[in-house]
Amino acid sequence: MMKVFIFLIVFLNLSNEIISEKCQGISQYNRCSVNPACGCLYSSFDTNNTICGYLYTACSEFSACFNNNQSCYYRDHVCIKHPRCSNNHPICYPMRLASEAMCPSMFPSTTTVPTLPIPDDGICANATWDTNGITVAGGNGRGSAINQLDDPKGIFVDDDDIIYIADANNHRVMKWIRGVSNGQVVAGGNGQGNRSDQLDRVSSLVVSQNGTMFICDQNNRRIQKWLKNNNQGQTLVMNVSCYGMAMDSEGSLYDSSYDDGRVSKWPHDQLVAGGNGQGPNLDQLSNAVRLFVDQDHSVFVADSHNSRVMKWPVGAKQGIVVAGGNGRGSNNNQLNEPFAVVADRMGTVYVAEWGNQRVMRWFKDSKSGTVIIGGRGMGSQPYQLSRPKDLAFDRHGNLYVADTENFRVQMFPIDKSSCLSS
Ligand SMILES: *[C@@H]1O[C@H](CO)[C@@H](O)[C@H](O)[C@H]1NC(C)=O
Ligand SMILES: *[C@@H]1O[C@H](CO)[C@@H](O)[C@H](O)[C@H]1NC(C)=O
Ligand SMILES: *[C@@H]1O[C@H](CO)[C@@H](O)[C@H](O)[C@H]1NC(C)=O
Ligand SMILES: *[C@@H]1O[C@H](CO)[C@@H](O)[C@H](O)[C@H]1NC(C)=O
Ligand SMILES: *[C@@H]1O[C@H](CO)[C@@H](O)[C@H](O)[C@H]1NC(C)=O
Ligand SMILES: *[C@@H]1O[C@H](CO)[C@@H](O)[C@H](O)[C@H]1NC(C)=O
Repeated sequence: MMKVFIFLIVFLNLSNEIISEKCQGISQYNRCSVNPACGCLYSSFDTNNTICGYLYTACSEFSACFNNNQSCYYRDHVCIKHPRCSNNHPICYPMRLASEAMCPSMFPSTTTVPTLPIPDDGICANATWDTNGITVAGGNGRGSAINQLDDPKGIFVDDDDIIYIADANNHRVMKWIRGVSNGQVVAGGNGQGNRSDQLDRVSSLVVSQNGTMFICDQNNRRIQKWLKNNNQGQTLVMNVSCYGMAMDSEGSLYDSSYDDGRVSKWPHDQLVAGGNGQGPNLDQLSNAVRLFVDQDHSVFVADSHNSRVMKWPVGAKQGIVVAGGNGRGSNNNQLNEPFAVVADRMGTVYVAEWGNQRVMRWFKDSKSGTVIIGGRGMGSQPYQLSRPKDLAFDRHGNLYVADTENFRVQMFPIDKSSCLSS
């Protein structure tokens, strides 16, 4: 009697560990979480048992299951099929990679209370990113078909992981839903020109919650407001040399002027960075490319010709160097033509460098950074970038790069497993 009882407890524990409602009816590797980096994984011995787990861990991290009983040596590991890693033998998969924090449910349940100390943007200090990118838009050569891009300069990722792309040489904005091979034209696409249904070398955009797009129509020197599902835009700002665009938590728009060395906040053209002509001083910028506005409304600017990233807190008279500033170069304390910057909630800065084909991470107050993506020469391998011009994170922390001269947008999945362990 006692033996049966113990056996039952063990059995129930094992089953509880692996059964997951999230994955019901979803086939192997298909998406099962709001995090697009997670997919459905099947138990090695019972096709009805599934977990929704992170897919992009290196195969070398997994060990084989015991042959005789399909169990695992380590606690909190389950024996699953993972043909991409091992065709014939099941592997032991750590359940921490299938946690609610890592792979949140597709359909948020009212009873789920997040308990793990991960910031909203899903990035922790010890996060890593897969160094091999997955092409999520374009990647079909240079062109103007709906599965192609030509100079995809700017990207914006919304809360539903939908990617918007400033497709500069096609004079259009594309919208790309993950997993779909074709994009949709959502603005422009009517040839190069200055009519209200046209764009001319669009360089960047932001999309507000209601789907309205704010577009830097760079060669037309105007900022266009384009309502969702509309076939034309309205001019919001005329005669600006905008390159980058950002929106703060209150819905104010910002643009960076490539030619004028300034960042403006709209609707009142309020100066928030630079404004003292092009130059290398701390109160100047030189060919400012993209910008980012954080939760305190501090402005971060990719100050490309000065090979540095500047932070301008609200009301500042000069900027603070937060990355680079040690001359143009490829050492870990240098940058080469930084084009885009994003800061996370901890003040860590991520920089895409047009000149070094890489993305660097600079922790707050550090004198040098580390390369997290690329930096391995120009090329089209999954681990390479060619002239990156923009970067963005989705709300889980997956990193997207406008890999311009490969005519594609790459997604680098975040691995948060080392965030959860401490
Ligand atoms: C899986 O579920 C189906 C339907 O619920 C059932 O018929 C089948 O026996 C189950 N398979 C296993 C291995 O438990
Ligand atoms: C499975 O087999 C291994 C090696 O044969 C053994 O060490 C382990 O205890 C077994 N596990 C279970 C749950 O029976
Ligand atoms: C990051 O990892 C190191 C060890 O690799 C650990 O000491 C540290 O506590 C971790 N930090 C966080 C924030 O998890
Ligand atoms: C629009 O383009 C046409 C043709 O190039 C030009 O004549 C016109 O001045 C432009 N309009 C504006 C507002 O720039
Ligand atoms: C959507 O929101 C933006 C500001 O975030 C506002 O300017 C715009 O008018 C709104 N559009 C609609 C259709 O409500
Ligand atoms: C456009 O802006 C520039 C300065 O950025 C100014 O010199 C020029 O006069 C402006 N043109 C018009 C038509 O307002």
